[in-house]
Amino acid sequence: MNNIYLVGFMGCGKSAIGRVLARMTYRRFMDTDALIVEQEGMPIPQIFEEKGEAYFRRVETEVLKKLTKEKKRIISCGGGVAMRIENVEEMRRGGHIVLLSAKPETILKRVARDENRPLLKGRKTIEGITELMEARLPHYQAAADITVATDDRSMEDIAAEICRAFIPSVR
Ligand code: S3P
Repeated sequence: MNNIYLVGFMGCGKSAIGRVLARMTYRRFMDTDALIVEQEGMPIPQIFEEKGEAYFRRVETEVLKKLTKEKKRIISCGGGVAMRIENVEEMRRGGHIVLLSAKPETILKRVARDENRPLLKGRKTIEGITELMEARLPHYQAAADITVATDDRSMEDIAAEICRAFIPSVR
């Protein structure tokens, strides 16, 4: 299907970089979180609160499966997507998986004023982010075809690196 899936920790820039990459490659951009919000008709914190995280994860997998039927999309995945082997297998069937990495310091700066991520509630410290990131990193790395660092780089530069990595298959 030749999709490009962007995975990684909350605040690593998946959506913003995905939009730039989509423009650069003349592809359509899609975002699992945005599709979940649209399908459920409520914001993510409310889904977590009223229906629970397990429900959110089921919907997330459903949405990912729908997206994998598409071709040549740039798909920004919520930070929990690559944690489930079922999702990773789905992404592998659908194309390439790119891990966007960022230091906890960078993440903290980017999410400091964010109220839309329930898993960061009470965790907006270097220690809180580092702890969750360390638990997730092995899963992210095992899923990814390539890892691209995002700290102190422009979105264009990062998107261009992803583009170069997949040029033979992207075009
Ligand atoms: C989550 C990340 C969020 C969103 C939800 C859960 C996670 O997406 O899917 O709050 O488990 O890491 P972003 O990575 O786009 O913030």
